[in-house]
Amino acid sequence: MTKSANTMWGGRFAAGPDAIMEAINASIGYDRRLAPQDIAGSRAHAAMLAATGIISDNDAKAIREGLLTVLSEIETGDFPFSTALEDIHMNVEARLRDLIGEPAGRLHTARSRNDQVAVDFRLWVRDQCDQADEALAALCRALLAQAEAGADWVMPGFTHLQTAQPVTWGHHMLAYVEMFARDRSRFADARARMNTSPLGAAALAGTSFPIDRQMTATALGFDRPMSNSLDAVADRDFALEFLASASICAMHLSRLAEELVIWSSAQFRFVKMSDKWSTGSSIMPQKRNPDAAELIRAKIGRIFGANVALMTVMKGLPLTYSKDMQEDKEQTFDAADNLMLALAAMTGMVADMTAERDNLKAAAAGGFSTATDLADWLVRELGLPFRDAHHVTGSLVAMAEGKDCDLPDLTLADMQSVHDGIRADVFDVLGVENSVASRTSFGGTAPSQVRAQVAHWKEVLK
Ligand code: ARG
Repeated sequence: MTKSANTMWGGRFAAGPDAIMEAINASIGYDRRLAPQDIAGSRAHAAMLAATGIISDNDAKAIREGLLTVLSEIETGDFPFSTALEDIHMNVEARLRDLIGEPAGRLHTARSRNDQVAVDFRLWVRDQCDQADEALAALCRALLAQAEAGADWVMPGFTHLQTAQPVTWGHHMLAYVEMFARDRSRFADARARMNTSPLGAAALAGTSFPIDRQMTATALGFDRPMSNSLDAVADRDFALEFLASASICAMHLSRLAEELVIWSSAQFRFVKMSDKWSTGSSIMPQKRNPDAAELIRAKIGRIFGANVALMTVMKGLPLTYSKDMQEDKEQTFDAADNLMLALAAMTGMVADMTAERDNLKAAAAGGFSTATDLADWLVRELGLPFRDAHHVTGSLVAMAEGKDCDLPDLTLADMQSVHDGIRADVFDVLGVENSVASRTSFGGTAPSQVRAQVAHWKEVLK
């Protein structure tokens, strides 16, 4: 028996689709997530059709109320989703017809699934920008609390993961606040740019009905209708901007996650993760594994993958809509879900972790971390050119290495054997506390600078 043709568009078809055609064509398995946006868009459209006299007030009322019934059926899990009806748009409309009969058939006047899906997806992505913003603000607050507590806790700063110079814990935490704050601004920029309405572009060319696009745009919270109907149905750059912002954010998360993995290791012991954010090993009883940090570190893979996938889907598509574009949703959903999960997990870990202050300080003093302070002293106090001071300091580091001690453990006589101008007050700059306290340049690691930045961010994030 041949399957019957699609009830929504099957007028000219004698037979229904092959089962595999139906399988490749259907998006209802995932685009059902757009139901709230689809219904909001349709309700705005119906109200506008009545306001402009295109349909009657009674029909609009029946449509708008029926759509609320559909929404509650979907929310309670009572909705009969059908693969034969392909996507969320046709599933909702078909159900509306079951519920209210003939007026349902008037809803699609002056509209196409092309502008319909464009508006639904835009609304969904816009909401994700807002959620990302909130989640990032929460993460920044958790980092800020760490920064405030440890504005003067000394730790090693690294370049090449080699001890470079002592820095403060607060300064390190605030570095991430800066990055995540820029991520917030990227989502905000993307949101502002995407906040224009494609509804009313219809299939691609606009419509001959006297629609009011400003009315639907306003009802849906958009700033204005998009100015070109071809562009309105053809582009998915708004989703790409979201995914690009998400990718950069996930990259930042992966770096912090990596540091937490390193810092919580037995070799570093810079931080202790709380029990809530650690897992045990089924064979090695001593283990406390930072699984959440590792998974956050890995999430960049699928998020960046979604960005590359959608860029590749869109690349080279002729204007306007092509069915290729149905592939815009599934990976965007996945990327957004995983970004939100990673942000929430990172916020929890950061809020709960404890800095091991003694270990941080001991590590800060190792690796000749104040060698630059010594070189700077030679420049400032003895007037040496920096390159010469660098050379003298290098010789002193080699001497300390030979004696298996740190720079402050050398005697004054040791120092003077390399440069006879060196005085006893050089030892003042070799301590890590003095080192960080001296770095008072704007944006530097001195506790005074860190406290000023903490005050600034408290204002921004309150
Ligand atoms: N499910 C489709 C999508 O996500 C909706 C648009 C279909 N438009 C069309 N002309 N077949 O892209």
